[in-house]
Amino acid sequence: MTLSMANYVAVLFLLLSTQCFLSAHCRHFPSNQGAIGDAFDVLNYGAAGDGHTDDTQAFKDAWKATCKSSSSSPTMYVPHDKSFKLQPLTFSGEICKSNSITFQIDGHLVAPRDPHAWNTCDGSKCRQWIQFKKFGGLFIRGVGSINGQGSNWWKLSCKHDKIGLVVANSNNVHIDDLTFEDSPQMHIAFERSTNIEATNLTIIAPGNSPNTDGIHIQHSSNVSIAHSIISTGDDCVSIGDGSSHLNITNIFCGPGHGISIGSLGMKGRNEKVEFVHVNNVSFTETQNGVRIKTWQGGKGYARHIVFENIIFQGSHNPIVIDQYYCPHKHCKNKTLAVKISDVTYNHILGTSNGETAVAFSCSTSTPCKNIIMKDIHLGHVKHEKKTSSYCSNVRGTADPGVFPKVSCLQVDENV
Ligand SMILES: *[C@@H]1O[C@H](CO)[C@@H](O)[C@H](O)[C@H]1NC(C)=O
Ligand SMILES: *[C@@H]1O[C@H](CO)[C@@H](O)[C@H](O)[C@H]1NC(C)=O
Ligand SMILES: *[C@@H]1O[C@H](CO)[C@@H](O)[C@H](O)[C@H]1NC(C)=O
Ligand SMILES: *[C@@H]1O[C@H](CO)[C@@H](O)[C@H](O)[C@H]1NC(C)=O
Ligand SMILES: *[C@@H]1O[C@H](CO)[C@@H](O)[C@H](O)[C@H]1NC(C)=O
Repeated sequence: MTLSMANYVAVLFLLLSTQCFLSAHCRHFPSNQGAIGDAFDVLNYGAAGDGHTDDTQAFKDAWKATCKSSSSSPTMYVPHDKSFKLQPLTFSGEICKSNSITFQIDGHLVAPRDPHAWNTCDGSKCRQWIQFKKFGGLFIRGVGSINGQGSNWWKLSCKHDKIGLVVANSNNVHIDDLTFEDSPQMHIAFERSTNIEATNLTIIAPGNSPNTDGIHIQHSSNVSIAHSIISTGDDCVSIGDGSSHLNITNIFCGPGHGISIGSLGMKGRNEKVEFVHVNNVSFTETQNGVRIKTWQGGKGYARHIVFENIIFQGSHNPIVIDQYYCPHKHCKNKTLAVKISDVTYNHILGTSNGETAVAFSCSTSTPCKNIIMKDIHLGHVKHEKKTSSYCSNVRGTADPGVFPKVSCLQVDENV
């Protein structure tokens, strides 16, 4: 069969309409990787991939081509078995043609090892290494790794602010399968974004590396974090102001500081978090477990929160609400407080490595309300020791079987 002229013109037009036609710089992406469309391989833009050469410019050029591509779903490709050293880099989806862009990262991205070798971004100090901003549809995935080489940063005494990877001002974001290692500070931050799914991630840093949170969520909604392993020196997941409708499911956490909501309300701020569902998490030797922390004098709320199906193995403070959060121990008591209400703890089992397995310090002016505890048993990791609870200014209910007994939980007449 031969192509009719009309069909031939149609096929030619189709080919010409993709950026890839006649371009030596791109190749079709293997369909078994799950990506459709055209792939822009960083090697074709001059990346060395030897772990030493600075490949930043090649990534910028490959990104420019990916962003300009008129393919409906272009892919920027980072091939496996290679390491790419990158300076701080921002990928902005703002002017891209496609609303469905994939970064297939099968190789390794590494930051400069020496903090002095980090260029500042665009002349000003940058707070992150790799940033994705203003995407309407973004897939970041692959079997590769993203290594912030943070060990030299951890030794610096001053507080710096260097996040491994930031996704900001974006919608419909998927991050899958990648490994994140040794960020200078928190590994991943989602900011001012909605509809995010992070699945099958591995996030690893030493348990004593300072401020290396796994995933931080801020001003973002409809976020799902699932099937992931997070072992770092700070919170596995931390949830900050303006976050709502979050599912955190099937997570292994430890070492680290647990899953934290807050701190909220620092310096009198009005901060809000609601509809958070933490389900099926196992905490191993974490400093805290499930924690809500707020500052005295703040406004706003943390409410509609469920922690369920949780297993603890030797965590120091498994269940914590702290309305007197004060990391530097010089905080004045104030009458205002971030309100905490409608928090359910259900089916939480295992062992604590501290005596106080449950600690609820709620404020006298703004007691915690509708705190519900069901099916909880937290013994001491050392069999000869006992666990107990601390509880002040809390309203709600605890089932009779809850252990340790949380005796100050009273029936709330207002509910
Ligand atoms: C999870 O990610 C790893 C690579 O890190 C990959 O080999 C594995 O197939 C992924 N699992 C699923 C269920 O996608
Ligand atoms: C969270 O889970 C609930 C119930 O399983 C589901 O209805 C909701 O869509 C999920 N939200 C996100 C952001 O995944
Ligand atoms: C977030 O999810 C909720 C419930 O599933 C839905 O009503 C809402 O429209 C979503 N928000 C955004 C910004 O997509
Ligand atoms: C709980 O999470 C673990 C670890 O991700 C997973 O293997 C297990 O299947 C999950 N359990 C349920 C009931 O979903
Ligand atoms: C603040 O109030 C709490 C609870 O009443 C109390 O334990 C704590 O000592 C007070 N702190 C200061 C600095 O007054």
